[in-house]
Amino acid sequence: MDETKTDYVLETKDLSVFYGDFEAVKRVSMKIPQNKIIALVGPSGCGKSTFLKSLNLMHDTAEGRSVTGEIMYQGININQRAINQYILRKKIGMVFQKPNPFKMSIQKNITFPLERHGLHDKEKLQEIVQDVLIKVGLWEEVKDKLSESALSLSGGQQQRLCIARVLAMEPDIILMDEPTSALDPISTKTIEMTLDSLKSQYTIVMVTHNLAQAARLSDYTAFFSYGELIEYNPTSKVFTDPDKELTNDYITGDFG
Ligand SMILES: Nc1ncnc2c1ncn2[C@@H]1O[C@H](COP(=O)(O)OP(=O)(O)OP(=O)(O)O)[C@@H](O)[C@H]1O
Ligand SMILES: [Mg+2]
Repeated sequence: MDETKTDYVLETKDLSVFYGDFEAVKRVSMKIPQNKIIALVGPSGCGKSTFLKSLNLMHDTAEGRSVTGEIMYQGININQRAINQYILRKKIGMVFQKPNPFKMSIQKNITFPLERHGLHDKEKLQEIVQDVLIKVGLWEEVKDKLSESALSLSGGQQQRLCIARVLAMEPDIILMDEPTSALDPISTKTIEMTLDSLKSQYTIVMVTHNLAQAARLSDYTAFFSYGELIEYNPTSKVFTDPDKELTNDYITGDFG
């Protein structure tokens, strides 16, 4: 990483995640710069999802997991019991691999979480619905059927709706675990364009198995192997002149 840069929105220090005795993420220290897309890559089972989920404390809900080290966000270590996860997850949102809209109307998918957080002003809600659907490029496609079921949308549209739902919470950071791997190439392309347009306002940390996608889309790439962060550099460097041989083996497909 470029150590002169100071606009970090999140930073882990010696972050380890254990499942019982097994250390799935090993003392990872990583600074996440603002308004960038960061790709997490590496072989299956290397700890990408575990690391990603730990960033908004999703790990706390699973039994047998323990997390050591620090996750610094807005000047405090959020890896501690006193943190209100409900509020934190507004600021650090998550989009999953498989689109998971609620069994509700398109509009309600966005307004429901807002209402649960106490917003009931109908006009304001309407404004937010339009705003976030425009941001994910879905407005024109759905503006005439906002009260139809979200499940009537295509997979790619559903995923964009899920991103819109997260945006409505006004997050700083959006975590995504292989957000396009369940989608066809055209939907994938649309989502990539959406993410690219969002990074002027948000920081996106994204797990992807698709190295071409990481190369196309991300500003920084983190390569993990067996729970360790092997290399974390600007994406162009990782893909053309990596510091570590292990990274080179992986990106050239030589990984054993
Ligand atoms: N709930 C769990 N209980 C026990 N071990 C787990 C659990 N979830 C993951 N692991 C183990 O932790 C390690 C990291 O898993 P993780 O799912 O984070 O990998 P990943 O890099 O996301 O893999 P993939 O690319 O296949 O999604 C693996 O060895 C996995 O078997
Ligand atoms: Mg995973």
